[in-house]
Amino acid sequence: MTDTAIIYASSVGKHVMKTAKYIAAELGADTFNLKDLMRINMDEYSHIIIGTPINFGKPSKKVVDFLNANREILAKKKVSLFICCMYSGDKGAAQCETVSNSLGIPDAVFFPDKSEKNEAGVSKDADAFIARMRG
Ligand SMILES: Cc1cc2nc3c(=O)[nH]c(=O)nc-3n(C[C@H](O)[C@H](O)[C@H](O)COP(=O)(O)O)c2cc1C
Repeated sequence: MTDTAIIYASSVGKHVMKTAKYIAAELGADTFNLKDLMRINMDEYSHIIIGTPINFGKPSKKVVDFLNANREILAKKKVSLFICCMYSGDKGAAQCETVSNSLGIPDAVFFPDKSEKNEAGVSKDADAFIARMRG
């Protein structure tokens, strides 16, 4: 049994989905795609990892709606955020900070589409994130 859930929304490129599934496999976490469901029983999880793309400067509306609908429950849990985006470097970091502030999730990382990939085809930055999540 796992204490970690990865809850994500992905758009056409499926970058977030691929990254979410990779992180979940590495951490032994459960995944939930907000495309299919909005009500998720989070009782058994102490750590929630949220994944979203950024389109036109904004996170997925499905993610925003999910967070707004679950503020009370999430306030009792450890929450982390990963973002898949095209911006890298300072621009990516600034965008990540803006989105992390708007979503109220300070523990945020971003994985630029063009970042170096590991053998699974996922950003190598995700491996550093996984290592940190394992603590
Ligand atoms: C219409 C559109 C708008 C986008 N706008 C942004 C943006 O404002 N900032 C950014 O960093 N990336 C932007 N991107 C890139 C996506 O965030 C990036 O490709 C991400 O990995 C998509 O994840 P997904 O394939 O799971 O949807 C945009 C992509 C599209 C198609």
